[in-house]
Parts: sequence; structure tokens; C-alpha cells
Amino acid sequence: MKTEVIPIDPLHIDATDLEQAAAIIRRGGLVAFPTETVYALGADVFNRTAVEAVFHAKGRPATDPLIVHIAHAEQVNQVAARMPLLAQQLAAAFWPGPLTLVLPRKESIPAEVSAGKNTVAVRLPAHPVICRLIEEAGVPVVGPSANRFGHTSPTSAQHVLDDLDERIDAVIDSGPTLIGVESTVLDVSGTEPCLLRPGGISLEQLHSYIPDLKFVPAYLNETSAATGPGMLLTHYAPRARLMLYDGSRDAVQIALIQGIAEQQQLGKSVGVLIIMDNPTRYEQAGAKVIHAGETLESAASGLFRAMRELDSQGVDVILADAPPASGIGLAIRDRLIRAASGQIIRVH
Ligand code: TXA
Ligand code: MG
Repeated sequence: MKTEVIPIDPLHIDATDLEQAAAIIRRGGLVAFPTETVYALGADVFNRTAVEAVFHAKGRPATDPLIVHIAHAEQVNQVAARMPLLAQQLAAAFWPGPLTLVLPRKESIPAEVSAGKNTVAVRLPAHPVICRLIEEAGVPVVGPSANRFGHTSPTSAQHVLDDLDERIDAVIDSGPTLIGVESTVLDVSGTEPCLLRPGGISLEQLHSYIPDLKFVPAYLNETSAATGPGMLLTHYAPRARLMLYDGSRDAVQIALIQGIAEQQQLGKSVGVLIIMDNPTRYEQAGAKVIHAGETLESAASGLFRAMRELDSQGVDVILADAPPASGIGLAIRDRLIRAASGQIIRVH
């Protein structure tokens, strides 16, 4: 199938273009659309065939559940059986925005959406295009990140095409996404809230509502069954091997220079992905350098683009510096650790 590109300016939404995309969703097709975090691959949540086509297009195992996107808070009742008090408070505080709540599932949605679980993940994104699209389509839409399974999430329509061209009906192009890492996933379906994935809403922000909330990554506990394959390692990965360095600024800078030399001796073409650092010394050492950003926010926004750019420059290995775990830094670290298959090179 030919994938159509539908440009839509989020500040001046063209009704005809939007209707074209909504009609594809209504008839069971697949449309990738922008959110404030990353691009999503959308389909009608109530159409089982369309939901199955989403898994197929991404190459995603049926065991990894999808996030449902809604356009206004009341729509949560169409997909969730109930909204616990804590969930109501969090939704009032953070919706629209990058917080996904895992809630008890309503029986009427296809089991495939939730990979057979009795919960459903729901979020209300802060992006005018997707909210208008959901309203026009008249149904909540499933929306996993619009990348091939295991690959880096897309932050532009071109990234979507790089992964899914000719596998989906259309992609809405509204320019690069703002936040750049995915939503925070919080399970509030049981007695204890559980942070499954750090993301656009920080742990510190959640502490106002859940003071003792911690992030214990499922991938650090090899004996426990991961909550879903989305929680497994080697996710969000570039094609090149990623080596992640963690330690004091000075120690990491020295280790990166050493690492570049070692990889070059092995005959490898080296990329370096830095955050809040100066590229010059690594460029002088002969590496291809991408600076993801001068602040944690801009680094989050540029992270996946940086991985894709280094891949397209053909590097064999990417050396990266782990940012501090505060604010959105926790989400950046999580994505880098997974891209590095869980291996962290600690330097002192
Ligand atoms: O920002 C985002 O959340 C983006 C944009 C497109 O909205 N979406 C996204 O979706 O990242 P996806 O499918 O790439 O990641 C969804 C994550 C997966 O790790 C999945 O395992 C988890 O949410 N998840 C979904 N439903 C769940 C459920 N019922 N219980 C536990 N985890 C769930
Ligand atoms: Mg994803």
C-alpha cells in the first residue's frame, strides 16, 4: 500500500485534511499522527482487525499491550471499567499531557489491545491534531510509537516513513515532536501504584501525589517476569551498538576519548552522543558527534533524532554519556540503558 503524507499545521488545522485522516481511521485503516511525545500509529480501538494490523505493521508481538489515546477525560469511560480516586487526581493534574494511566479494562474493548490483560493503558495527549482527529473519528484510538518493534521511537513524520513506509495508510506531518521521549506509564489499577516507565511527566512531579513512588526498572530484576515486552531490554535501540558511560563529568570525558581511540583501533567508525557537553574534543579525536541538547529538556527532545542521525551516518558504535537521573533525565537514562542492552560502563 502507498503511504500518504498529510501535512497538517497544528496551529491552523485544515478541516478537509483532518477529515481525510479521520475517514481512514473510521474505515479501519492505520494513520500515524503526532503527539507531544513521539509519533503514534493510530487505529480505531474498537476495530479488532485494525488493532491486529497495528501489531503486524510494527512487527510487535501480540503480548505487548497498546496505549489508548482519548480526546477528553470523560472518554476514559469508554475503555476503562473504573477510574480509582488516585487516577482521577492524576488525570486532573496532568491531562492533557505525557502521563499514561494503567486502569482496569472495560470488557467491551478487544482483548488484543491489552494483550489479554485485565488492564488498559490510557492517555490524553497534549497535541491539538490528535485530539481533533479522535473527535472527528468518533472513537478512542490505539497509539503505540510509530516505529518498527524494538527500534528508536519516531519524533518526525520522516522517521515514521523510514520505518513504516508502505506498511500503513497515511502519516500526518505536523513537524517534529516537542518532548521527544514517550509518556510516563503508571499502573494505578491495583492497591499500590507502580511506575512502569519514566517519561514526560517526572518522578518529582508524581511525588506531589504519591510521595513514596520509586522507579524500579523491571530490567534490573532478571528473575521477575517483566510487565510487558515493552519493558524488556534492547528496546528503543539504534542499529549501531550503543556503549553507555556513567560517572563524574571529568571521568566520562576522559573515558569517551579513550573509548573513541579503542574503537578506532578495532577498525570501527565511532559516533558520540553527548548531552550538555562540548563536542570539540571528540570531533578532534575523529568521532562523528551529535549533541542531543544543552538542557535535559532539549536533550530529551533531540535524543531519538540523534540516534537515528548517527545510524544514517553509518557509524558502527555509538558512545554515549548518561545524564543525571533528575527530572526528564530519568527517562533519558532509561532509554539509553535499554539502547545499551542494560550495560553501563561506570567510570570514576
Ligand atoms: O508517549 C507515548 O506513550 C507514546 C505516544 C505515541 O503516545 N506511545 C508509546 O506507546 O510509547 P508504546 O506502545 O510504544 O509503549 C507503550 C508502553 C509499552 O511499554 C507497554 O508495555 C506499556 O506501555 N503498556 C501498555 N498497556 C499496558 C498495560 N495494560 N499494562 C502495563 N503496561 C502497558
Ligand atoms: Mg514504543
